[in-house]
Amino acid sequence: MKLLITAGPTREHLDPVRFLSNRSSGKMGFAVAQAAVERGHTVTLVAGPVTLPTPEQVFRVDVVSALDMLAAVRRLLPYQHALVMCAAVADWRPKSQSDTKLKKTEVPIEVALEPNPDILKTMLPLKEDRIFVGFAAETGDPLAEAQRKLTSKGLDLIVANDVTRPDAGFEVDTNLVTFLTPSEPPRALPLQSKLDIGRAIVDWLEQRERAAPNIT
Ligand code: C5P
Repeated sequence: MKLLITAGPTREHLDPVRFLSNRSSGKMGFAVAQAAVERGHTVTLVAGPVTLPTPEQVFRVDVVSALDMLAAVRRLLPYQHALVMCAAVADWRPKSQSDTKLKKTEVPIEVALEPNPDILKTMLPLKEDRIFVGFAAETGDPLAEAQRKLTSKGLDLIVANDVTRPDAGFEVDTNLVTFLTPSEPPRALPLQSKLDIGRAIVDWLEQRERAAPNIT
């Protein structure tokens, strides 16, 4: 299969040296990419700013902001069988960006923000028979929130995890996730490495592709 995977945070710059971002390390998305190439799939990885090495045989496209990531996904999606959105896309960006470093005295006390587009929702009209997978990193009730996002983003699979646990979510090498789909009961996976979770996601994609081959 041809897979488009996104990973890492995005950075929303205020000026050339200051930005809004989040704690995503990119490890989960890079692990899915690694698992997919191990199985012989063709992987394009759209990565926000992270410090991880590119897995061998992965074609990597680096981006900075949510708008850059959207542009890359829009350009690359037509060639793919599936989109796996692991990236922690920043929800907002500063309304204005300065091309030069703001002086200490020029930095406003309040920063006006505007919402970033939702990449999955924006790509939904181009989905056709492609498989869309999302992640839901939650601090409250992970399954309820993930269920809501599965429906609202039109996904085939959402991978839910509780990011308040020390052994799951941001920065660490392990994760504890539950798979939710529109048709099956939720499937909780045991605590395991992000690479093994990546392999489970690739298993799911392969089964899904066998059940309903897409023609892309
Ligand atoms: O809404 P929330 O950010 O929690 O949803 C998470 C899922 O949606 C992830 O798969 C993430 O990559 C994707 N997402 C997106 N565009 C955004 C924000 C999140 O595609 N602007």
